[in-house]
Amino acid sequence: MPFNIGIIGTGYVGLVTGTCLADVGNSVLCVDVDAQKIERMRGGDPIIFEKGLDRLLERNLKEGRITFTLDLAEAVRTCTILMFCLPTPPGKDGSADLAAVVSVANHTARILHEEQITEPRIVVNKSTVPVGTAAMIEAIFAEHAPNADVHIVSNPEFLSEGVSVDDFMKPERVIVGTKSEYAKKAMVDLYQPFVRSGAPIYCFDVPSAEVTKYAANAFLATKISFMNDLSKYCEIVGADVDNVRRGISADSRIATGFLYAGVGYGGSCFPKDVKAIIHSAKALGMSLEVIEATERVNHKQLQRFIQRILDRFDGDVAGKHFAVWGLSFKPNTDDIRDAPSLEIIRALTQRGATVSAFDPEAIANTQKALGDMITYAPSMYDATVGADALIIPTEWNEFRKPMFSRVKEQMKQPLIFDGRNLYTLDEAAEAGFEYYSVGRASVIPDA
Ligand SMILES: NC(=O)c1ccc[n+]([C@@H]2O[C@H](COP(=O)([O-])OP(=O)(O)OC[C@H]3O[C@@H](n4cnc5c(N)ncnc54)[C@H](O)[C@@H]3O)[C@@H](O)[C@H]2O)c1
Repeated sequence: MPFNIGIIGTGYVGLVTGTCLADVGNSVLCVDVDAQKIERMRGGDPIIFEKGLDRLLERNLKEGRITFTLDLAEAVRTCTILMFCLPTPPGKDGSADLAAVVSVANHTARILHEEQITEPRIVVNKSTVPVGTAAMIEAIFAEHAPNADVHIVSNPEFLSEGVSVDDFMKPERVIVGTKSEYAKKAMVDLYQPFVRSGAPIYCFDVPSAEVTKYAANAFLATKISFMNDLSKYCEIVGADVDNVRRGISADSRIATGFLYAGVGYGGSCFPKDVKAIIHSAKALGMSLEVIEATERVNHKQLQRFIQRILDRFDGDVAGKHFAVWGLSFKPNTDDIRDAPSLEIIRALTQRGATVSAFDPEAIANTQKALGDMITYAPSMYDATVGADALIIPTEWNEFRKPMFSRVKEQMKQPLIFDGRNLYTLDEAAEAGFEYYSVGRASVIPDA
C-alpha cells in the first residue's frame, strides 16, 4: 500500500526525498515556508540543480503523486508519515541550530492536539541533528499533544549532492532509529522499493542512528584532511600526493573515495557536521581529538592555498585580476554553501584584486552571495581574458581538458593555481604555464 507522506522542508534533501518517494507510488505532500519556492515547484521547477530531478519532478507532478503547500496543517491532517527535512545550520558556537526542527515539532504537536487527531503519525527526522534530538522531539509531542499517537524515528539521510537522485533511489544502506515497532515496520516497508538489490536497512536504537550520520561525515572529512595534511609533506619531500593516493587506495582496506588532496572540504554538510559533533562532545566535557584535527587541517589547507597565491605576488594583489573556474563547493551542484571559492575570492578582493568567475551552474547562487563584488563570465574562456592568474577551486569536468593555448593567449601571464590537481605536471609544463597545484612539485618555466 502506498503511504501518504508529508515532507516538511523542501530543499536539497526534502525535494529529492519527496520526488523519489512519489516516483515509487506514494502520495507526497511537500511543505515549505518559502512561498516563491512552493509556487515554482508546483510549476515543475526544481529550483536546485540536481541531475535527473527535473524529469522526475515533472513526471510525478503530472501523475498527481506529488503536491506542494505552505500549510503544515494540511500535511499533519492527511499524512501518516511526516518527514522533517529542515535546515540545521551551524550556530555561532558550532552547535547545530535546531530552531527549525523545534519550531516544526511544536507546531505539528499543536495541530495534532487542536484538531484532536488520534490516528498514528510517524514523525521522521531526516535532518542531521545531534544525539538527543529525537528524545527532545518526543518530549515536545508528549507535552503539547499528550493524546496523539506519535512514533518518533531518526532516519538520517546520506545522499550526496550532484548524485542525490541516484543515491536516494539506490542507497548503500538505510538507517532507522526508533523505539516503536509500529514505526519500524512502516519504515522498512517504505524503503523496500529502494533496497531491492540487497542494501541493508539497519534498525538501530535512536542514539546510534543519530551518531551514525555524524560519524559518516566526520570520517569522510577525515579522509580528506588526512590527504591534505600529507600534501604539505609531499611538497617538501618531493613526492607527488596523487601517486601516493593511487598507491594507497589500491588497498581495499583504504578504498578510493575522499582521498583527493585539494583546497579542503566545503559544502552544506561536512563543515557544519564536523563542527556540530565536536561541539556535542565538548558539551559533555570531552574532546573528539581526531575530528578536531580534521577541522583544523581543513581550515589550514585553504589558508595555505590562499597564502601561496599571495606569496606569488609578493603579498600584494592590489590591482591584479584573477580568473576563477568553479564556484560551487564541488562539481555537479549549484550549492555554494561554505564553498572554498568564496573564501578565496573574498581574500583576494579584500586586498584590492578583481575577479572574473565562471561556473556551469552556480553563478545565480553566487550572485546572491557576492553581488557585484566580482564579475561573472559567460564561459570559462571569457573569465580568463586579461587575468594575471587562473584559480581553480572546483573540478567541473569541462575544466579538465581546456584549450591551453587559448587560455594562455588571453591571460596577461600564463599562471595557474589549481586547487584540484586537474592537470599533470607535464601537461602544464608543455602548455607553457607556471603551475601550482596541491601536494606536487610546482612547474616554473625557464625564464
Ligand atoms: N544537502 C545535503 O547534501 C544533505 C545530505 C544529507 C543530510 N542533509 C541534512 O538535511 C537537512 C536539510 O538540508 P538541505 O540541504 O536540504 O537544506 P535546505 O536549506 O536546502 O532545505 C531546507 C528547506 O527547509 C525550509 N524550511 C525552513 N524552515 C522551515 C519551516 N519552519 N517549515 C517548513 N520548511 C522550512 C527551507 O525554506 C528550505 O527549503 C540538514 O540537516 C542537512 O544537514 C543534507
